[in-house]
Amino acid sequence: MRSVQVSLGDRSYSIHVGNGLLPKIGDYCRRLKLGERCVIVTDSNVGPKYADPLVRTLKMAGFVPNVVTVPAGEGSKSLKVVGECFDQLAMKRLERRSFIIALGGGVVGDLAGFLAATYLRGVAYVQVPTTLLAQVDSSVGGKVGVNLKAGKNLVGAFHQPRLVLCDLDTLGTLPDREYRAGLAEIVKYGVIKDSELFRRLERELDKILKRDANTLTGIISRCCTIKAEVVGADEFETTGLRATLNWGHTLGHGLEAISGYNEYLHGEAISIGQVAAARLSTRMLGFPEKDAERIRDLLQRCGLPISVKLAPKKREALFDAMRLDKKVAQGELKFVLANAIGDVVTGQRVPDADITAILNSIGA
Ligand code: NAD
Ligand code: GLY
Repeated sequence: MRSVQVSLGDRSYSIHVGNGLLPKIGDYCRRLKLGERCVIVTDSNVGPKYADPLVRTLKMAGFVPNVVTVPAGEGSKSLKVVGECFDQLAMKRLERRSFIIALGGGVVGDLAGFLAATYLRGVAYVQVPTTLLAQVDSSVGGKVGVNLKAGKNLVGAFHQPRLVLCDLDTLGTLPDREYRAGLAEIVKYGVIKDSELFRRLERELDKILKRDANTLTGIISRCCTIKAEVVGADEFETTGLRATLNWGHTLGHGLEAISGYNEYLHGEAISIGQVAAARLSTRMLGFPEKDAERIRDLLQRCGLPISVKLAPKKREALFDAMRLDKKVAQGELKFVLANAIGDVVTGQRVPDADITAILNSIGA
């Protein structure tokens, strides 16, 4: 097992990465000195596989756990589901010292974290991410929230978890398409901060695709370390450092929004977004074309989409959706762009004409 620390003063917490962690959650939670009552928030795919053993270990450690299950999928990151969950939390008599456990992928993590941030003006929560994407990204850093029809993550909060447990055993049941979607966020870390990680991904992709436990422990903990450093230095996204994590997300979030959140997985949308951002970087900042090709090739080898075709109406909708994203200032689209692999800059204004040219070049 490897452990990474997120250093945020009295809100610091550990991320543990390894096999066999789920059965130990009772002991880990006891060390946090939380209240007795807790609610496991999970979804309809993950709950049947992992909730029962979790309930057992929590009971053995002296907790009183309940389970709230939401439908699997991005649709559960909605205010409607938030309202239904609040009613359940009230029924289960959750108190101020009680806590929530998010058992699932990024959808459950973002939703359960938002419940924890707001119910009774805030209760503690623990992240137990069960997708590759959630283990390397969404479970760390305390960004929680839900979507509106108008756009992704438009309602939310910053609320740090008390602990993150990444049990690699849970990845054994993750469908191939979901696993590959998680690789898009891993490629992102290489591009924004770590050229050696990027080269390692190029070298070791076959082992990663076979879900080799040793390789995964190293890769996941490296990604968590990068995220922990970024969040530790810019928790509330005020200096621009945390915004580097949005590499590939301006276009990616737009694609998710115009397709009603059900055509692309998040990782697939940001794969296309990264190809576009790499080409924009070449056009705007002179990022080497061969490195833009390396990014595209690696994402393609991960089995991720690298192009998109959009009818003119959809393209207009994409611009509208991108303008509603949180990365807009004074109505102008801002992108994270790369100078080199491992070195990106935020807040780069890009005229619509250049975005159009890039959309043309990636087959849109
Ligand atoms: P997800 O939570 O929808 O999970 C993907 C699918 O896999 C779901 O059907 C789920 O039921 C299933 N699943 C999860 N774990 C499983 C397992 N171990 N075995 C079998 N099936 C399993 O999607 P995701 O890709 O994990 O997360 C995407 C969400 O994360 C998006 O909403 C995105 O906006 C958000 N996100 C948030 C942050 C953040 O910082 N908060 C960062 C990145 C992404
Ligand atoms: N996933 C973006 C962030 O955590 O800031």
